[in-house]
Amino acid sequence: MLTILVINSKGGSGKTTLATNLASYYAGKKYRTAIMDYDPQGSSLHWLKTRPADRDSIHGANAAPAKGGVTLHSKTSWIPTDTEVLVIDASAGAGGLLLKELVRRSNYILIPVAPSPIDIHATADFIKDLYLIGGALTAKAKIAVAANRVRNRNATAYATLERFLNSLKLPFLTSISDSEIYLQAVEQGLGVFEMDEFSTSTERRELMPILRWLEGSFPNRYGVRAEDKLINLESSKKYAAYRVGGGS
Ligand SMILES: Nc1ncnc2c1ncn2[C@@H]1O[C@H](COP(=O)(O)OP(=O)(O)OP(=O)(O)O)[C@@H](O)[C@H]1O
Ligand SMILES: [Mg+2]
Repeated sequence: MLTILVINSKGGSGKTTLATNLASYYAGKKYRTAIMDYDPQGSSLHWLKTRPADRDSIHGANAAPAKGGVTLHSKTSWIPTDTEVLVIDASAGAGGLLLKELVRRSNYILIPVAPSPIDIHATADFIKDLYLIGGALTAKAKIAVAANRVRNRNATAYATLERFLNSLKLPFLTSISDSEIYLQAVEQGLGVFEMDEFSTSTERRELMPILRWLEGSFPNRYGVRAEDKLINLESSKKYAAYRVGGGS
């Protein structure tokens, strides 16, 4: 089983947005997929509840601490033994033993960061914890970061974020825009790869580097690699432009 952990102790950085999009992408590729929600607010599980019944199924596991702070491993945090891809949506503020446990069980750790000074500061602290408390240095997991909710790449806040991400000795995979499409996807229980191809082309393109980063670990069972899909998308866009323009 391949385990992808989406984590940042800073609230609202985009963990659930990325976790739900990754889970729906791999479910759509027919991998037996589960999403494990550590957030007491249960955002991923709520997303799963709104997911249309005719879409590829994703198993939901609730790993949030019970009321009173007692944690984990209840019946609802069970996942099927034949799960091929497990996406973990971590809770804000995950630290200590929980962080250690999450790092230990993951193959990939993806850290979304929003372009604000507060988020950058909190993320720097979190990455320190990931190594000092989480034991990321000795763990098997590959770690990378992604900028999320980027409104304006010319803004100072983005330049600061970019400098920060480039200063880390971690791959900086992509910049994800602040887009209404992500909100629509969550509302509909979908991921952007399940929505209309043309209206989501920007979002698909900006998620693609994450899929490519993960791709090495996926057997290419269904003959379509993420990159090929992008090429198909580009060529169908050209085709659409050709049709609209009526060019030769
Ligand atoms: N790229 C984006 N474009 C537009 N809205 C976004 C984007 N990423 C996240 N959001 C929105 O921002 C809010 C916070 O995002 P999300 O829930 O994914 O963060 P989180 O890290 O899981 O938060 P928490 O720490 O509370 O669990 C949500 O309303 C989400 O829909
Ligand atoms: Mg969340």
